[in-house]
Amino acid sequence: MTELYKEKYRPQFHFSPEEKWMNDPNGMVFFNDEYHLFYQYHPFGTTWGPMHWGHAVSKDLIHWEQLPIALYPDEHGAIFSGSAVVDWNNTSGFFDNQPGLVAIYTSAGTYPDSDRPRQRQSLAYSKDNGRTWVTYEGNPVLSDVNITDYRDPKVFWHDETNKWVMVLATGQSITIYTSPNLRDWEYGSEFENKAGSHGGVWECPDLFKLSVDGDENNQKWVMFLSLGDDPKTKEGSRTKYFIGDFDGTTFVNDNPDETILWLDYGRDNYAGVSWSDIPSLDGRRIYLGWMSNWRYANQVPTQEWRSAMTLPRELSLTSSEDGIRLVQKPVSEIGSIRKGTEAYQNLTIESNNPSSFNMFSQLLEVNVEFEKLDSSSFGIAIQGSETEKTIISYDVVKETLSVDRTNSGENSFSESFPAVQEASLKMENNRINLQIFIDASSIEVFANDGKVAFTSLLFPNHPYETITLFSNEGNTGVPSLTLTELDSIWSK
Ligand code: FRU
Repeated sequence: MTELYKEKYRPQFHFSPEEKWMNDPNGMVFFNDEYHLFYQYHPFGTTWGPMHWGHAVSKDLIHWEQLPIALYPDEHGAIFSGSAVVDWNNTSGFFDNQPGLVAIYTSAGTYPDSDRPRQRQSLAYSKDNGRTWVTYEGNPVLSDVNITDYRDPKVFWHDETNKWVMVLATGQSITIYTSPNLRDWEYGSEFENKAGSHGGVWECPDLFKLSVDGDENNQKWVMFLSLGDDPKTKEGSRTKYFIGDFDGTTFVNDNPDETILWLDYGRDNYAGVSWSDIPSLDGRRIYLGWMSNWRYANQVPTQEWRSAMTLPRELSLTSSEDGIRLVQKPVSEIGSIRKGTEAYQNLTIESNNPSSFNMFSQLLEVNVEFEKLDSSSFGIAIQGSETEKTIISYDVVKETLSVDRTNSGENSFSESFPAVQEASLKMENNRINLQIFIDASSIEVFANDGKVAFTSLLFPNHPYETITLFSNEGNTGVPSLTLTELDSIWSK
């Protein structure tokens, strides 16, 4: 057997379970100096099955310690996605005058008299920093309303109204509930988005507040919404977001229904939600997503385990000529795995005459800035052999950035996998900057300081050899290029 975390395609600086199947991140919460990450887990197979909550903790969001399974299927069903909060004031009555953790998740069972799926919301609590959990004897706390898809509660404390708020995916809407104590829930409102709708089922909502352009006096609410796989689309499952206002019961979208804001333009960032209870002194809103896609998640060519999470990313809001938009960047703690660097300055890539750089590590961060001179397109290829490459290119005329993985390696497991992923992106002062993270089976691209992100799985057949910068139909300036070797998080 291959040594753990040394297997083919095994992510080296992304979280993946030691073995078996994983999907959505769940119950992310910061408590007593630890970041908790729970996740949808099937411990008996490498495809989706009866769901448990797997568990890992981290001090820095980068290095993870695996812990035993936190929640097991029970008489109410399997444990689907959900959230966790710190009950600071013991509103739930589960704790003895000290704060503890409460998990709010979907019990996915069936009706007593049939096989018809039934989804209800339940609680579990922990008095020992998430190491052991007690399921609440009053479960479920929120019963079905006779719709099949009724799940993925994300709960947070709303200071202004002094209540807990739950956003819940309910078919093709999000229903908002409120509670004084996490046990009794009251209907608040229902949020729909008809024109911008989508055939896929709505899943894994989140709702949180962020400052616009760093101004605490100008804050907006951001709603995350994951859209399940819709066979009519080429993208499969995908996450979008809305920006608006929230008064404690109702979310109002600032934009017309038709405005669709995607969280990520790559195919592999799904079901992302944010961490709860990061101290207000720190003030960061951090999320990560499941780095896969329901279209082919069960078929990706890994053996011992299936799926990894994206890098944890810090979110912020910026105003632009199109309106307020979300920006995401890998958390600064990623610095702890940076090793040797090679830096180049003021290069000119000549027309149709690419420049190649040796890839001195299979785990690499690339920071590159391009300056348009007179070319029609330019970019960077990550190459493992003459024909095997992933191409990131900017089209100056169309103003689009794309990540092409059609020749990135193994892709026969799904017709939907080979793809050119594309996003609109404007140059800023004639420049585009890219921050790229290359792991054993993924690439993440953050463009123009995180205004556009692409998260994409790749399954190379050959070790990476070169980074090639290219320029078509004219020259392109490269004011700076930095290649930084990254360390494996599993090496210590
Ligand atoms: C999203 C999802 C959730 C559900 C979970 C089941 O990927 O379908 O809606 O709770 O996965 O594992």
